[in-house]
Amino acid sequence: MQDLRWPTYANRNLVLDGAVFDDVESGRGSVRVKDRDGKVYLDAVGGIGCLPLGHAHPRWVAAVEAQMRKLVAAAGTFWTEPQQELVAMLAKHMPWSDTRTFLGNTGTEVTEASIKLALRATGRDVVVAFERAFHGRTLGAIAMTANAAYREPYVACLGEDRPAFAHMNVVRAPWGDLDAVEALFVRYPSRIAMVAIEPIQGEAGIFPASREFLVGLRELCTRHGALLGDDEIQAGSGRTGNFLAWTTLVGDDPALAPDIVWLAKAIGGGFPIASCSARTDLAAHMIKGSHGSTFGGNPLACAAAVATLRVMQDEGLYASAKAQLPTLQAIAAEDPEPRVKEIRGSGAMIGIEIAATSASDAQPAAALGDAMQAKGVLVTICSGHTVRVLLPYHAGAAELRQIWTTLRQVLAG
Ligand SMILES: Cc1ncc(COP(=O)(O)O)c(C=O)c1O
Repeated sequence: MQDLRWPTYANRNLVLDGAVFDDVESGRGSVRVKDRDGKVYLDAVGGIGCLPLGHAHPRWVAAVEAQMRKLVAAAGTFWTEPQQELVAMLAKHMPWSDTRTFLGNTGTEVTEASIKLALRATGRDVVVAFERAFHGRTLGAIAMTANAAYREPYVACLGEDRPAFAHMNVVRAPWGDLDAVEALFVRYPSRIAMVAIEPIQGEAGIFPASREFLVGLRELCTRHGALLGDDEIQAGSGRTGNFLAWTTLVGDDPALAPDIVWLAKAIGGGFPIASCSARTDLAAHMIKGSHGSTFGGNPLACAAAVATLRVMQDEGLYASAKAQLPTLQAIAAEDPEPRVKEIRGSGAMIGIEIAATSASDAQPAAALGDAMQAKGVLVTICSGHTVRVLLPYHAGAAELRQIWTTLRQVLAG
């Protein structure tokens, strides 16, 4: 079969047909999909972290179907019930007493929204991002993204003196290095609008920030008048056992909270939706006409997100998500695999790093995605060294054991 899309994706040679419900407990979503030949796969990709309830959770499907019959599109100038319900729910989950939210469709769109808000609210013009970071694929977001292959030939960042379509005032700091961030505040006095961080770097290979680093960034931003931006697109929406990964890593002291929080992926339960939230006084800088999105916050997407949040709460999915990492670590401890260097992450955001076999082996996990797929398990590989596991939150020991056993089999060759 010929792929008539742009050739931008690595091809897994797999046509996914639909979810499989054979062994699904009533009232749950499915964790398995099948291809067109009927071969079944455990899905630990989940659209890259978009399926916290699994595929086609009955309450999620019912909510989307009902909304589809009622109202699917509405301009942002109108209020709708699901839109107002969602922003109220998000406000309850945010670390501030009073929250305002912009609703968009994709992660990169809300990264852009965070940049606009930070520039307007501070009147400054520079953003600090981190080495290995991934914040999306539009121009502002790729400027904040570390991988040069994603940025070039579109964007040159601050200090990069070369012709480019866009010159973006983004500077990068090493991960975990508070002194380096402080040095940037000294180098660009009164210019840094926002320091933006993924509390757990996802695409890079599942690297959680230390509490000390996040608290240190909070202190630096406060001291230098910059905003602290928290990209929770991959780590947020309950994946670590709390609504925000920030809470999991730092705690819920409001004095240590970020200033801007943005979400996408899991928040819609599989339906595209994204949000960018901030305290009301900050959001007030986004005056009429300063931002917008035709589909952002459409009633269908909001109904999907409201249903997702309700199911997470009602079915105890925060707790089951939280249990996944320790469960996998326990399974691995019983049945150790010498080629696994580390199993890290938080809750249902898990990275299994594979050790290099030689000094020249820079991508020891590169072939594992295809190899595990052949054995009926779908995972993605991050940075060539880490197997990423993003299961639905209700998945547990059985699914994690299947992943571990399959990994061990493919490593054994
Ligand atoms: C942390 C983070 N930020 C931003 C994005 C971009 O999201 P999207 O692909 O929905 O634009 C991603 C996607 O993987 C992400 O993981």
